[in-house]
Amino acid sequence: MDDLRFLILYGVLAGAVLASFRKAFHDRKLDTIPVIGSSGFLSSYWDAFKFFHHAPDLIQRGYDQYPEGIFRVARLFRWDYVVCGPKLIKDIAGAPENVISFTAGLEETLQPNFTVGRAITKNLYHHHVIRTTLTRNLHACFPEVRDEIVCAFNDVLQLQGSDWKTLPVLPTTMAIVARVSNRLFVGLPLCRNKAYLANNVRHTIDVVRTARKISLFPSFLWPLIGPLISTKNKTNARALPFLGPLIEERLSKERELGPDWPGKPNDYISWLLDLAEGDERAALPLTVRILAANMAAIHTSSAAFTYALFDLTTYPEYLLPMREEAERVVKEEGWTKAALNSMVKVDSFLRESQRINTNGPVGMRRRVVAKDGFRFSNGTVLPYGAYLSVALRPTHYDESNYEKAATFDGFRFARERAEHLANHNHNDNQDIFKRHMISTAVDHMPFGTGKHACPGRFFAATELKAMMAHLVINYDVQAEVDGVQPANEVFNARATPSATRKVRFRKRQ
Ligand code: HEM
Repeated sequence: MDDLRFLILYGVLAGAVLASFRKAFHDRKLDTIPVIGSSGFLSSYWDAFKFFHHAPDLIQRGYDQYPEGIFRVARLFRWDYVVCGPKLIKDIAGAPENVISFTAGLEETLQPNFTVGRAITKNLYHHHVIRTTLTRNLHACFPEVRDEIVCAFNDVLQLQGSDWKTLPVLPTTMAIVARVSNRLFVGLPLCRNKAYLANNVRHTIDVVRTARKISLFPSFLWPLIGPLISTKNKTNARALPFLGPLIEERLSKERELGPDWPGKPNDYISWLLDLAEGDERAALPLTVRILAANMAAIHTSSAAFTYALFDLTTYPEYLLPMREEAERVVKEEGWTKAALNSMVKVDSFLRESQRINTNGPVGMRRRVVAKDGFRFSNGTVLPYGAYLSVALRPTHYDESNYEKAATFDGFRFARERAEHLANHNHNDNQDIFKRHMISTAVDHMPFGTGKHACPGRFFAATELKAMMAHLVINYDVQAEVDGVQPANEVFNARATPSATRKVRFRKRQ
């Protein structure tokens, strides 16, 4: 082990020196792209360290200077290019995967080869399942999703009588989101199994932590470090006893009775099996796909609901109007997915919460994979291998995109929708989905925008809106400390909601 430690240390130092030379003597044509901070050989290192804790300030500084351009910031072993303004963001949104790659962009931040396995990145058929079958089935599966929301709130909050109970928001939300998502992924009774759910939540956290550690090393050391600290085999081994028998049973039913056997459950396992081919049709590969869906769904949706709860308790004046709307809609239309479309205030509140609480200063991370590089519409060329992203938070906080952009205005999108309807033909399909929680744009990118916009956002919006409507109808909530918005935890280019911050819940009086 001592030899190994020495090897790693030696590798890190050698890698750092090599990488810094590469960074210092990079393609001179790129010198025209302005640097935020210093471009000096050693001083850029200082900036790269500052990035760990001050990334939002650095990115905002760059955006203020180049709101319609591209700037670069120093990272430990390379430059990061940050793209600003609607025109250039559109260039990224529409670029094909074989020119600017989403998957290659994730290699550093999520380290999928080590955190989830190479098979997944080679064949992303489960993305297609999420984009098509899962989304199409949201209407049919809504009664189950709704049932799970009611039971999960009861079981997780465990409120008695009229007493207030103080709970940490993020873990509470994660427990509820994990259950509700798994009702759609694997159905009853597994979606309520505590050990199964705990493994999914742990996997979500492990992936982010492991990837963060691996990416502290230069890329040529990833294959050495990755397997040493990867938790994927342990996670898979813990998930298999739960999912293996379920998958084997489905496979054997298919062999016996054909692909559309009577009583076939309408869930993600079945939808995966409809498309899985060859080696993918086995317990372990399908388990890995289910874990991947959990990872995509749990972390993001629970962060979004946690932020929304922080906003609701910081600005309690929004509770009664949303309660009134949700109760009225449910009375008129019942608890259906279609009824959620009429909850315009709930939708607006969640969309505004996502606008204000970005998951970091940058988004839409990509890597140039075309050998000739990528030419933006303003003529700037980024070379093969360059990492780029868009200035997400500054775009959301830009006064030219949003009036009083830094102020939380929960019903701004509801008002805009009402104004739009009043001023336009109601059959104007062009605009009908603008400013809804699911609609993406170059000035609104919580789900990204363009070719890789999150395919799970239709499920996420259904789940989060139904959860918020259920919460405001059935519970009272209060900040632990009145009027204080909990600070986010920021590391590198990622921001997450405070994991310890609490909120007080009680049954509605
Ligand atoms: C509030 C919840 C969610 C947020 C904020 C969110 C956000 C995102 C973002 C920012 C991206 C990358 C977009 C880009 O870089 O252009 C993404 C991609 C993705 N998301 Fe989500 N997501 C959420 C929920 C979900 C759920 C519930 C699922 C699965 C059921 C899911 C599955 C995916 C997948 C498969 C991709 C990759 C898309 C591709 O390769 O084209 N997400 N999501």
